Amino acid sequence: DKGEFPHFMLKEIHEQPDVIRRAIQGYTSDNSLDLKKLGIERLEVSKLEQIHIVACGTAYIAGLVCRSFIERTLQIPVNVEIASEFRYREPFLLGDRKTLVIVISQSGETADTLASLKYAAGHECQTLSICNVPFSSIVRHSQSSILMTAGPEIGVASTKAFIGQILCLYLWSLAAGKEKGFTSIVEIDEALAELKQLPNQVAKVLETKSDIEKIAAKYNGYKSFLFVGRGSSYPIAIEGALKLKEISYIHAEAYAAGELKHGPIALVDKDMPVLAIAPNDRYQEKTVSNILEIRARNGIIIGLGDSENKHLASVCDDLMSGPSSSNEVFQALLSTIPLQLFSYYVACQRGEDVDQPRNLAKSVTVE
Ligand code: F6R
Repeated sequence: DKGEFPHFMLKEIHEQPDVIRRAIQGYTSDNSLDLKKLGIERLEVSKLEQIHIVACGTAYIAGLVCRSFIERTLQIPVNVEIASEFRYREPFLLGDRKTLVIVISQSGETADTLASLKYAAGHECQTLSICNVPFSSIVRHSQSSILMTAGPEIGVASTKAFIGQILCLYLWSLAAGKEKGFTSIVEIDEALAELKQLPNQVAKVLETKSDIEKIAAKYNGYKSFLFVGRGSSYPIAIEGALKLKEISYIHAEAYAAGELKHGPIALVDKDMPVLAIAPNDRYQEKTVSNILEIRARNGIIIGLGDSENKHLASVCDDLMSGPSSSNEVFQALLSTIPLQLFSYYVACQRGEDVDQPRNLAKSVTVE
């Protein structure tokens, strides 16, 4: 039931504050992390020396968002990899339970992700799955699992599941950090206090949807887009570009902003808008320099960042307003919402079937 919404995708975008509220309720009790629900109890965290996060599509991007945070929290290297590559390339895995392979899958049935999980289990690795469907094949084959709080996702393009995946990874790493003795109770308290602000922050972004709809109307006729960002905004650029091509069939590519001058800037002209994600973070100044380079080549800039930031607003042709967070994971999560809405409106304005895009299936059970 789509309720008051014309499409499942828009409904699911609007459910995201609740996905966060349910995660707070589901993974914490008495203001501390629930180690059982976060899959810690069935893992030997103290043994871990490396982590591989393996998934496909949007689920893979959720891994990219959390990678630095997990590395810093657990002080071990974290690799994030596409399942169809991981399963065949014969990755070097420390055996003897020293490697944790985390697989992420909304459906829990993705063939390449399941195969990667089985590969890991066959190489003396520990395994953890993050899935949205209980008793799915991936859940059944993993040593430990976390059930996401997204609720059923009907729209083929993943929206609320992505937010659910990021939250699971984030809270899992805090819990694992606590287990290892690296994360203090104070740090967890602070993280949970910030997390409690998120549903309202997301709801505020949703209130800007008519502004985003107008920006979408201005740009929906272009044939190609570049998405750029740095730090945790880089995976969000990848996610933004994926969403746009999936449902609007417009070509979109994502680059780390610092990579522009290593090739893609050659593409920049007045016919290819560049969507630059530039929140108020330690990367912003660098991203603004990249924006200026694009402008100098007659490129069009759609920014995503703090609309109160006059300097940023002055270098962008249009600016989608997005809140800032000092937490890089939450920042990524917040920046995702305007981009979901942007692709949604572009696709609707072009008359595409946003809930059932051509050639795509919700669950990819063949490789
Ligand atoms: C993108 C999208 C896909 C899925 C991918 C993995 O919007 O929906 O990229 O994220 O097919 O699917 P799951 O998470 O079910 O393994």
